[in-house]
Amino acid sequence: MLDLIQHFKERAASYDQAEWVHDPGVMAVTLDFLGLAAGQRILDVGAGTGAVLAAALAACPSLGPCVAVDLSREMLAQIRDSRILTCGGDAEALPILDGFFDAVACRQSLHYVEDLDQCLREIRRVLAATGILLVGQMTPFGEADEEWWKVIVKTRQPLRRRCLTLHELLVALMRTDFVVVRIVQIRATESLNAWLERYQRSASQVEEVRRLHLEAPAAYKELHRFRHVEGDTLVDNCWTFVRAGKSLPQPKAAVYLAGGAADGAR
Ligand SMILES: C[S@@+](CC[C@H](N)C(=O)[O-])C[C@H]1O[C@@H](n2cnc3c(N)ncnc32)[C@H](O)[C@@H]1O
Repeated sequence: MLDLIQHFKERAASYDQAEWVHDPGVMAVTLDFLGLAAGQRILDVGAGTGAVLAAALAACPSLGPCVAVDLSREMLAQIRDSRILTCGGDAEALPILDGFFDAVACRQSLHYVEDLDQCLREIRRVLAATGILLVGQMTPFGEADEEWWKVIVKTRQPLRRRCLTLHELLVALMRTDFVVVRIVQIRATESLNAWLERYQRSASQVEEVRRLHLEAPAAYKELHRFRHVEGDTLVDNCWTFVRAGKSLPQPKAAVYLAGGAADGAR
């Protein structure tokens, strides 16, 4: 965990430069799945620099309390919007009362937690009975690219504890009693050069990531739509969004009155 805290401490100031953090397509689905409404209380777990809550408040200024929880003080310190309450804490032991939130957002952080089920149980605990969880994760597109994708993302970020696929995510949500209600997968384009420049840790790691892209199987390159543009390689990533409820939505109550007496006239 100390490695992770140090990593995000070093990345905090430049973190928002990563293309995906504010990508309009990724953000549009994120907000849609949160289902913003006046008074809604939202918790962002592993909130980082608060991009999701800032976008949610821009789209719906009448939201209720918005709270950002993260292990990294430096990431939270990047949050400038005073409507967002920041809270240092671990996703596996949330410092939050039971049932307080209407919605929890969790974007690109589940691969870092040590015990995934414990984190999901904690999220479930802090949700109200009708509360929903939005998970946004980069995943492989499917079985065809899973193996190579896992090697690439693990090389890019050795501090990851797992490389979730859609299937693994759904199994974990069901194991922890969430009810999956919507799933969407979209593409978001990334520049390999921008990542290599922004995110290099060592020359050997950079070389290995470059090699893994150059030597990717043809099927992988086709699925991820590799394009070579002015000395750069553009690659599509798969973003998976899951909206899950704490419990099954209640069917709308239907009242049937015998003899059509609903108008009270008879
Ligand atoms: C890739 S960033 C994602 C930030 C943000 N969710 C977003 O979409 O921009 C992952 C964040 O998860 C945080 N994190 C990792 N493990 C955590 C844990 N166990 N508890 C709380 N935060 C954690 C990191 O400090 C980091 O800020």
